[in-house]
Amino acid sequence: MIPLPLARIAEITSGALTGMADPRAVVRGPVVIDSRAVEPGSLFVAIKGARVDGHDYAAQAMRAGAVAVLATRPVEGPAVIVPDAAAALAELATAQAAALTQVTVIGVTGSAGKTSTKDLLARLTARIGPTIAPVGSFNNELGHPLTVLRADLDTRFMVLELAARNIGHIKDLTRIAPPQIGVVLNVGTAHLGVFGGKEAIAKAKGELVEALPRTGVAVLNADDPLVRAMASRTDARVTFFGRGESAAIRAEGVLVDARGRASFTLRTPSGAAPVTLQLYGEHAVENALAAAAAGYELGLPVATIAAELSAATPVSRWRMEVTDRADGVTVVNDAYNANPDSMRAAFEAFAVLGRGRRRFAVIAALRELGEEGPALNAELGRLAGGSGLAGLIVAGPDAGPVLEGAGAAAAEAQAAAQAALDAQLAAQAAAAVPQAPVPHHGAPQGWHGPAPDQGWQGPALDQGWNGPAPDQGWHGPAPEQVAPQPGWQAPDAGGAPQGWQAPPVGGPVPGQPPMGGAPAGISHPGGPHMGGPVAGAPPGGGAAYPAQAMRIVHVPDAEAAAAELAGWLRPGDAVLVKGPRAMGLERTAELVLGGAAQ
Ligand SMILES: Nc1ncnc2c1ncn2[C@@H]1O[C@H](COP(=O)(O)OP(=O)(O)OP(=O)(O)O)[C@@H](O)[C@H]1O
Ligand SMILES: [Mg+2]
Repeated sequence: MIPLPLARIAEITSGALTGMADPRAVVRGPVVIDSRAVEPGSLFVAIKGARVDGHDYAAQAMRAGAVAVLATRPVEGPAVIVPDAAAALAELATAQAAALTQVTVIGVTGSAGKTSTKDLLARLTARIGPTIAPVGSFNNELGHPLTVLRADLDTRFMVLELAARNIGHIKDLTRIAPPQIGVVLNVGTAHLGVFGGKEAIAKAKGELVEALPRTGVAVLNADDPLVRAMASRTDARVTFFGRGESAAIRAEGVLVDARGRASFTLRTPSGAAPVTLQLYGEHAVENALAAAAAGYELGLPVATIAAELSAATPVSRWRMEVTDRADGVTVVNDAYNANPDSMRAAFEAFAVLGRGRRRFAVIAALRELGEEGPALNAELGRLAGGSGLAGLIVAGPDAGPVLEGAGAAAAEAQAAAQAALDAQLAAQAAAAVPQAPVPHHGAPQGWHGPAPDQGWQGPALDQGWNGPAPDQGWHGPAPEQVAPQPGWQAPDAGGAPQGWQAPPVGGPVPGQPPMGGAPAGISHPGGPHMGGPVAGAPPGGGAAYPAQAMRIVHVPDAEAAAAELAGWLRPGDAVLVKGPRAMGLERTAELVLGGAAQ
């Protein structure tokens, strides 16, 4: 920050100095709200939160070297007393930003991808000059001014993430550090509850481009109709990014590799260059294009933009972190946060990354969705249940709608797979030519068993293949033995009881081992078989076999999810972990990964 004497801080915030504060004592920063982050020269801002009161930590902050405390009541030691500490923090940041005339401020907003895009963009601006960008999300009425206060006279760029939890929030944030460039990624369903509708969310996010000056640039996603429409709400010039021809900055020929990483040609009005992302998930293309468009507007050559995007690895934790255990189990830790859109993006990425492998997911009910919550959570369940998983764990409270949706979709997927299989076998019988269902690059001709559970390269179940689930070597009973969901009862919407386990949907009797083996009480030639196909040995002498059941389990928390998974996982499996922030599911991922290290 630009050093400020306490007298000036009191003046900016209309505060009163107490506790023998020396008006000439200089605050050099950082300004912090966490006493553990205090350094010599800091100003400690005492915020009274729901659980903790910063004033209780004033003495600790002073011991750590704080020059003074910005507080709402006198504390032990020098303080600037103000009526509202958060408002005073904003005033301080506003005054500092006004003094930083050499800084270009870039604001990023959207329902999903702000942090990821901010990290990419900060990488680009750092190629031009010293850049300040928040650590992690830091995007609200506290994080935003704290970030602004980190800038000093050397700073050339501030890349700021702006979040809206209601109408007017972004407008307030743009008053602190008025942006010259405003990037809007998407309008989704995050915080739908407080807003009451997507249009209201668009209204709130559009406050960013309304705040831009005539000389500024609005960087808008052409592929999102509600974002595209924001072009009419700004005085600034508009640059579109997207996949389609109409976008000035666009991705052409997007290809996604087997791990779910995209590559494409970045096209701009002044040339093109190839990009190969190291970030996981196709949604990273949207974020990369947004960053590229802002970088382009700042005058960066397209080759430099492409090279930086290609070199970028995740900066902020728990967003599509992909880690392979020594035994080949791949863990996708996307547990930072979740909303309906980022859930969908994560499942899409996971389908690609986990193709041909047994896939499991740990999820939790989404929050802050208001009246739509139960319906959107049932939809999440349907997404998970229909995505060809071998098993699904739903952690935490309010899991009812998720479990219900998952159960229904899994049963439908299984029934569809079974019908396709039956039809295929009937056709084969009619033609009297014994033909096994042969997945893309799969089993040898003449093999009548289910697809091997390892190394299968065909499309995942949720990508249009209607055969039996490819990822399990279970040779089970004939179709007539498979009762379609006998007596399966969805828990009521209030949430399943702790420890409640849905029986495998549509599968055989409850009580089977968690995964992989043949269901209890059902025998098949050759006994339980966990490995690849038995080449040339059609189970049941060429009889049909059932499509795979998905196991769906409810557990109370992140730790219990890890314990449950431990019993399921086999070498080579893939796991997706994703839930709302409050569930802390990164703990599940960490436990699963730690388990392998022991
Ligand atoms: N463009 C995108 N579309 C959909 N999902 C995305 C997109 N970009 C990132 N995600 C996913 O959304 C989640 C949050 O990503 P990120 O932290 O970048 O977003 P954010 O907007 O900063 O979120 P928050 O509002 O929680 O700060 C992650 O799971 C990430 O994988
Ligand atoms: Mg964020």
